[in-house]
Amino acid sequence: MYYLKYRPQSISELDNPKARELLYSILKQNKDLPHAFIFTGQRGTGKTSSARILAKAINCLNNKFANINDKVDPCGKCSMCQQITNEAISDVVELDAASHRGIDDIKNLIREAHFAPMSARHKVFIIDEAHMITYDAFNALLKTLEEPPDKTIFILATTNPEKLPETIKSRCVIVNFGAVTNKDIVSMLKRIISGEQLKIDEKTLELIAETANNSFRDAAKILEELVSLDKLEYDQALAHLYTRDNKQLLEILLDKDLQTAIDWAEEFYKQGGDIKNLISFTLKNAKEQMIANIKQNKKTLVNKLALILKLFQRAYQELRYTPNDLIPLELAIIEFYNSTKPN
Ligand SMILES: Nc1ncnc2c1ncn2[C@@H]1O[C@H](COP(=O)(O)OP(=O)(O)OP(=O)(O)O)[C@@H](O)[C@H]1O
Ligand SMILES: [Mg+2]
Ligand SMILES: [Zn+2]
Repeated sequence: MYYLKYRPQSISELDNPKARELLYSILKQNKDLPHAFIFTGQRGTGKTSSARILAKAINCLNNKFANINDKVDPCGKCSMCQQITNEAISDVVELDAASHRGIDDIKNLIREAHFAPMSARHKVFIIDEAHMITYDAFNALLKTLEEPPDKTIFILATTNPEKLPETIKSRCVIVNFGAVTNKDIVSMLKRIISGEQLKIDEKTLELIAETANNSFRDAAKILEELVSLDKLEYDQALAHLYTRDNKQLLEILLDKDLQTAIDWAEEFYKQGGDIKNLISFTLKNAKEQMIANIKQNKKTLVNKLALILKLFQRAYQELRYTPNDLIPLELAIIEFYNSTKPN
């Protein structure tokens, strides 16, 4: 899969300049490294990838941290870099807090942290989706974060830093990757197409970036989907990303009844349409139409469009927590009709 094959392996390969600069500035400073970090930022912005890159950088045998030169990027070739890339080393530990969130998991990790590194210079613990850790488990972790064992570094990665206790945050250096721009995504897509020796024009790459919800991962997946369907010409790509058809839903909401809208959503999903893309396109269309109608002072329509924006934005957020993508969408549709056509 492209998104794994082309996952950045060094700071220089990160396609978001902000993440690049942040990591360079952390690693270039001449003070001792902080021992606990929080990496935050939207989904697919490179938090996990950067945590692994940092683990590699500080353990690489060919850079500043090995007193070889003044480069801070990992070389990618030495045995340390390779073992870390291949996840074949016990000194770099990844814990997925989405599935290991309890006190016992964290106690195990703390115990492990007190053993000296086996072969690396630094032990690195990467705790992904750190906001999922339970309250008790966070408490257990506090003391270790405050006085970590020698040569041990913790990196907590999370999309929701507001869900971390203040006591944890105050003990960590917070690195915010922010959001990625479409331009960053296009530059990642170019890295992939040159690796795969594909030819795709700029306009199509921009279309993919627009559809990717500011996520590198989503963009790589969409590209892969278009490649597998051989729809790399702009018109084909556009048509495909729209079959999943989007504009249509907004028109239905504005002109047709609840039954039609729900039937349409069910059919769209059955045909393999991507609900997240659908919601995202609908938001985009609704916003454009709203702005146009404000200019023409069409109040009723503006209010309807504003309501769609509000409900669909919520549905979009709820996608994260639903076992079935249709649920948030259909709830938004029903609520829209409830609020606009009471009878
Ligand atoms: N800075 C980047 N430059 C280029 N590609 C990237 C970058 N960051 C992420 N990617 C792509 O996105 C994929 C997911 O990245 P990663 O897992 O690091 O993101 P994340 O921020 O941890 O996401 P999540 O919040 O969903 O865990 C990578 O496998 C890679 O293909
Ligand atoms: Mg991650
Ligand atoms: Zn190396």
